[in-house]
Amino acid sequence: MEPILEIKDLKKYFVTSRGTVRAVDEISFELLRGETLGLVGESGSGKSTTAYTVIGIYAPTSGKILFRGQDISVPVSKRPKTLKRAIQIVFQDPGTSLNPRRTIGQILELPLKVHRIGDRNDRRRRVVELLRMVELPEDYIYKAPHMLGGGERQMVAIARALATEPELVILDEPTSALDVSIQAKIINMLLDFQREMNLSYLFITHDLSLMRNVAHRVAIMYLGKICELAPAVEFFENPYHPYTKMLLSSIPVVSEEEEKMKPEKIISQGEIPSPVNPPPGCRFHTRCTERNGICSQELPGMVRVREGHLVWCHLFGKKEEG
Ligand SMILES: Nc1ncnc2c1ncn2[C@@H]1O[C@H](COP(=O)(O)OP(=O)(O)OP(=O)(O)O)[C@@H](O)[C@H]1O
Ligand SMILES: [Mg+2]
Repeated sequence: MEPILEIKDLKKYFVTSRGTVRAVDEISFELLRGETLGLVGESGSGKSTTAYTVIGIYAPTSGKILFRGQDISVPVSKRPKTLKRAIQIVFQDPGTSLNPRRTIGQILELPLKVHRIGDRNDRRRRVVELLRMVELPEDYIYKAPHMLGGGERQMVAIARALATEPELVILDEPTSALDVSIQAKIINMLLDFQREMNLSYLFITHDLSLMRNVAHRVAIMYLGKICELAPAVEFFENPYHPYTKMLLSSIPVVSEEEEKMKPEKIISQGEIPSPVNPPPGCRFHTRCTERNGICSQELPGMVRVREGHLVWCHLFGKKEEG
């Protein structure tokens, strides 16, 4: 399958009064058409910065972003409009991402106007259709965002993202601000839309367990770098990176069977260091129980532990080299 999105050695640094924040520090991955790639990591690991750079809110510091093979690592104003239309985003907080001074109808119509899709009547019909798609009543057209519940607002945000018939949708923690019951409903809806419209999703979350049934592949980020990338099931059956194991061991489980699959001990220790002065060598070594001498000195390279399963960790690099 062809990749719809290719990220190559992407860096996004922010120069601040505290120093240079290495929010995204040379990451590479591909997203295939119709695929969901989970981007998982703790707060501050660089997930949103990656998303905002792909959508064009930030220009990359270096590296390339290709969409359908076309270079889009240019300022967003220079991106072709047809490409802008094809990439949409849903933000974490539907409370702030919807303009409080507009009605739901106006909010859903705006992307159609911006991209000059249809005449007034066409747009009106499309707005009603979009509301129906996310199972909201037609008369919500006249409502303001504050009259809706959190889950409903997020459905509007999803409908707005789908308005321009995108090919790639970036979901930045789309359900983490919502009640668990609504989360499941929204996830199911997103999966239905993906099947119906062959959408590709870059699904950002701090919740690795959520990815098990949602993502085809998952990339784990830590301090601006990817440390493991593999098919979603691999993370639960064959996790390699000590950081992945740490994340897995902190997931609450319900059944004994699941408990057995979990890595033995909880290895969580210490805080995430600052991305202004990230530790040399492996970014994770300051919190890693399995570190050895080389970990604080050399950045680990990529190791292919099996087909489609990549790990950046000295433990396995050594094994591979024999
Ligand atoms: N515009 C900015 N200016 C300066 N620093 C920034 C900016 N945006 C993000 N950062 C910093 O970059 C790092 C990565 O932030 P980012 O928001 O990408 O993390 P995240 O993985 O999305 O975290 P969260 O789970 O909290 O949303 C953080 O240290 C953050 O403080
Ligand atoms: Mg974020």
